[in-house]
Amino acid sequence: MLYRALGRTGLQVSEIGFGAASWWGKTQFEEIHAARLVDEAIAGGVTVFDTGASYSGGNAEPRLGRVLKGRDASGLVIASKAGTFVDAGRVRRDFSPAAVTASAERSLKVLGLDVLPLLQLHGPDIGDLSDGLREALQGLKARGLVRALGVNSFDSAVIDHVIGLPDFDVVMVDYNVLRPEREPLIARAAAAGKGVLAGMALAMGHTGLKVARIAGVRDLWYAARGLVRHRADVMAGARFGLLNRLPGISGPQAALAYVLANRDVACAVTGTTRQAHLVENLAASGLTLSAEAMAAIRTQQGARLSA
Ligand SMILES: NC(=O)c1ccc[n+]([C@@H]2O[C@H](COP(=O)([O-])OP(=O)(O)OC[C@H]3O[C@@H](n4cnc5c(N)ncnc54)[C@H](OP(=O)(O)O)[C@@H]3O)[C@@H](O)[C@H]2O)c1
Repeated sequence: MLYRALGRTGLQVSEIGFGAASWWGKTQFEEIHAARLVDEAIAGGVTVFDTGASYSGGNAEPRLGRVLKGRDASGLVIASKAGTFVDAGRVRRDFSPAAVTASAERSLKVLGLDVLPLLQLHGPDIGDLSDGLREALQGLKARGLVRALGVNSFDSAVIDHVIGLPDFDVVMVDYNVLRPEREPLIARAAAAGKGVLAGMALAMGHTGLKVARIAGVRDLWYAARGLVRHRADVMAGARFGLLNRLPGISGPQAALAYVLANRDVACAVTGTTRQAHLVENLAASGLTLSAEAMAAIRTQQGARLSA
C-alpha cells in the first residue's frame, strides 16, 4: 500500500480507503464478516476508514466502533460525518452548531475514540456553512476532539465555496471515471491546500455492470439503489466495459488506478462486502494505466459528455 499526504493536515493516508458504509454497515450483513473485512483492510495497510452518523441506517458508525474495540487505532484516520442523522428510518439533516457538535461528540463515543482524526459535514448547502457553525467546528478542534475538518459534497458550487474557507482542511467529492468534470474542481481544492478524498471511487460498481451481477440479497440492494437513485450512472457505467478488458489489471483496479492517477487525490474510498473484492481493490495501489488505456477512457468520457 502506498501513502499520500492529506493536504496540509499533516496526515498521511493510504491510497485506498475503506468505506464503512452501504451494505457493509447494514444489520443484515453479519458483523463477523464486517469485522473480518476491517481486519483484512488494516493488515493490507489501509488507514482511512470512512463512515458517517447516518450511514447504513445509523448502524455503520457504531459497528465500526465495535469492530475497532481492542484494536490499536492510533495509526488510523477514522473519518466520520455530521449534519445528517437517522430518525425513524429516514435520513434527516441538521447543520445547526448544536446538532453538529452533539453529533461529533456522539461519534467519538460510539467509535471509542478520544480524538476524531477527521470530521466532515455531510452534504451541507452553502447556506448551512454559517459563522456559528464554523465557530462550533473550530471549538471542537480547540477542545482537541477533532483533528481535521472537511466537507463531503457532490455539489461543485458547495466545494468551490469551501475551497475559499480556511476552516476546512479536506473535501470529499464524487470522483471516478464517470466524473471527469470534477477534475478542475479537484485541482482548485488541491491548489488551495485542501486534502482531497475521492468518494464513490468505484462508481458504485457500475463500470463492472454490478446491477446485472446478482448473487444474493446484497447485490439486489446495490442494484436497486443504482436503478432507483443513480440510473444515469448505471447507463454511463455500461460505456466503460473497456476497463474490464485491459491486460494485467482488473476492471475495478483500472477504475481505481484512474482515480489515483490524479495526484491531487489523496485517497480513493471504496466500499465492499466481499473479501476477494477487498484484496483486489487494495492491490490497485501502485498500479498505473497505460497511455493507451487512459486515452481510451478519455475517448469514452468525451463521447458521453457530448452525447
Ligand atoms: N455512494 C455515495 O453516495 C457516497 C457518498 C459519500 C461518501 N461515500 C463514500 O465512498 C465510499 C465508496 O463509494 P462506492 O460508490 O465506491 O462504494 P459503495 O457505494 O460502497 O459500492 C461499491 C460497490 O462496488 C462493489 N465492488 C467493490 N469492489 C468490487 C470489486 N473489486 N469487484 C466488483 N465489485 C466491487 C461492491 O460490491 P461488493 O460488496 O460485492 O464488493 C458495491 O456494490 C462509500 O463506502 C462511502 O464511504 C459514498
